[in-house]
Amino acid sequence: MEQLYTKDTQAIFWNNNKTAIQRMLDYDYTIQRKTPSVAAIVAPTSGNKFEKFFYGPDEVMIPLFKTTAAAKAAQPQADVLLNFASFRTAYDVTMEALEIGGFSSMMITAEGIPERLARKMNQTAREKGVIIIGPATVGAITPGAFKVANIGGTITNIVNSKLHRAGSCGLVTRSGGLFNELSNIIAINADGIAEGVAIGGDRFVGSVFIDNMLRMEKNPAVKYMILLGEVGGTEEYKVIDAIKSGAITKPVIAWCIGTIAKYYDSGVQFGHAGASANADSETAEYKNKAMAEAGIHVPASFNELPAMINKVFTDLKLADIPEPEMSVCPTVRSSKEFICTISDDRGDEATYAGFPISSVATPDTGKGIGDVVSLLWFKKQYPKWATDFIETVIKTVADHGPAVSGAHNAKVTARAGKSVVESLVTGLLTIGPRFGGAIDGAAEHFKYAEDNGLDPKAFLNHMKKLGIPIPGIGHRIKSLKNPDLRVTGLMNYAAENFPSTPLLDYARTVEALTTSKKENLILNVDGTIGILMVDMWRALGYSEEEINEFIASGTLNSFFILGRTIGFIGHVLDEKRLAMPMYRHPMTDILYDVQVAEEIK
Ligand code: ACO
Ligand code: LMR
Repeated sequence: MEQLYTKDTQAIFWNNNKTAIQRMLDYDYTIQRKTPSVAAIVAPTSGNKFEKFFYGPDEVMIPLFKTTAAAKAAQPQADVLLNFASFRTAYDVTMEALEIGGFSSMMITAEGIPERLARKMNQTAREKGVIIIGPATVGAITPGAFKVANIGGTITNIVNSKLHRAGSCGLVTRSGGLFNELSNIIAINADGIAEGVAIGGDRFVGSVFIDNMLRMEKNPAVKYMILLGEVGGTEEYKVIDAIKSGAITKPVIAWCIGTIAKYYDSGVQFGHAGASANADSETAEYKNKAMAEAGIHVPASFNELPAMINKVFTDLKLADIPEPEMSVCPTVRSSKEFICTISDDRGDEATYAGFPISSVATPDTGKGIGDVVSLLWFKKQYPKWATDFIETVIKTVADHGPAVSGAHNAKVTARAGKSVVESLVTGLLTIGPRFGGAIDGAAEHFKYAEDNGLDPKAFLNHMKKLGIPIPGIGHRIKSLKNPDLRVTGLMNYAAENFPSTPLLDYARTVEALTTSKKENLILNVDGTIGILMVDMWRALGYSEEEINEFIASGTLNSFFILGRTIGFIGHVLDEKRLAMPMYRHPMTDILYDVQVAEEIK
């Protein structure tokens, strides 16, 4: 790997750290990336499915997942993990991600991970060839391509420090704060940086100076390197060795901060856990001297570093870097209250999931109601066998005569003088677990039984324990002797057109048992629809989780609601056409059993 990140790099961000993620997206917009640099967020305790962020003036939705595994499965191209877990969980998060695989680098921000665990984590990553940046870091940046979280600060600071486009310096520091300071100095005295990494302030960090500098040596965009070390540790000596052995040939400028230590009797401990000298060779003074002796450009003091950068850079006589076009993030932005992911009416013609209405509306398009449902309900173009099945269902449940609960209610309401919509809604409100609304329940319980390998008897016992009739089983008038031909029709369609019908096959074994007890305990039309829809979705490649979500959100009952709306409207119009008077139920049809109310004292 020559370059840590590219303009296509995408990350999985562990922890919904909104400010840091927004800064990444502001950066992306400014440098005109095609895709946001954060592809997914892992938020283990959130019940939400996405988080909204600004992308320039607009907003984008970044999906949330409860686990790293789920995020990685959904966004396999995202090969950077930005681990913003606390020091208590950061180790586990990293180790789990290393186990999942598919990451080229991981950045760990937490400070204070126990050193024993940090060493184990770094070692495991090294064995798997994964670059670790941190712990205790603000991260890294490949200007003009990808920036980790808060590195470089605000977008104004980033542009001022020329971090919006690649320069020619490879920068490695321990400290994040000084990384920003150095970027600014480099922008003023040279042409910016090509890649920069703050390796982190803990004693045991993953990738050390030499790892990053050897990569930069191979990166043609890096023309020279700057190393900003600090008191403590011996990592600078590995760089000296690499220069001596010829592994690093590009000019290196370096400075170790902490030279003030010589003025104290007892040494100094800076803010970083690693910033304290355990031996003379770990002092800043000593390391600066050794680096200068190895031919590294070491200034006499930090104050002279800018001039030295300017000199080394000028001597390289590099061509000027053209300033790229940038987009400007508006300073005032307002978040949208509503989200729509199914249709769009902003153009000349409204679209259904991206398809202009005219492309699906007329017969010559070859599209039917099944296609419109698949676009507007599922945001997918289902194959013909599936859209035809949806249409078959809608047509099949459109009506079942005036006597059924919902039609009866719609008729009574229409006769009370109510409008079409009021009467229709009354009918629709009748749809429920006993009438027409058993489809979701049927799918849920039969799927549960099949998923858990329950044989029909065990399933019946299970339902008995739950204390509810099996949704999708039983009918008031249909039975083995008087079969429901709608059910036969749906089953025949499935047999001819579905790739397979495993859940229906299972349901029929249950039906064999229930009808052996009572002949009207057939698999009814609701049950058949619910079960076949699960078979359809499985054949269409949906995951079990997605199917469970469809069921839980009431998608299946919606097919009955949609179809039966046709019939209810028919009954209401029938009442109006016939100008039927108000209905009063015959008293002879009511059993009156009214006692005189007892008085409670
Ligand atoms: N599971 C288990 N036992 C059942 C079921 C069932 N789904 N349905 C009826 N039974 C049993 C009852 O427990 C009762 O047993 P019992 O005689 O030992 O007391 C017996 O069958 C008769 O029960 P009723 O409720 O009187 O049955 P009825 O035939 O009148 O009811 C109904 C039909 C309401 C559809 C019922 O079968 C049921 O609740 N089914 C589940 C819900 C369902 O699928 N509804 C959709 C129907 S199709 C549609 O509306 C478009
Ligand atoms: C229906 O489709 O409405 C029926 O199955 C219910 C019924 O009672 O006939």
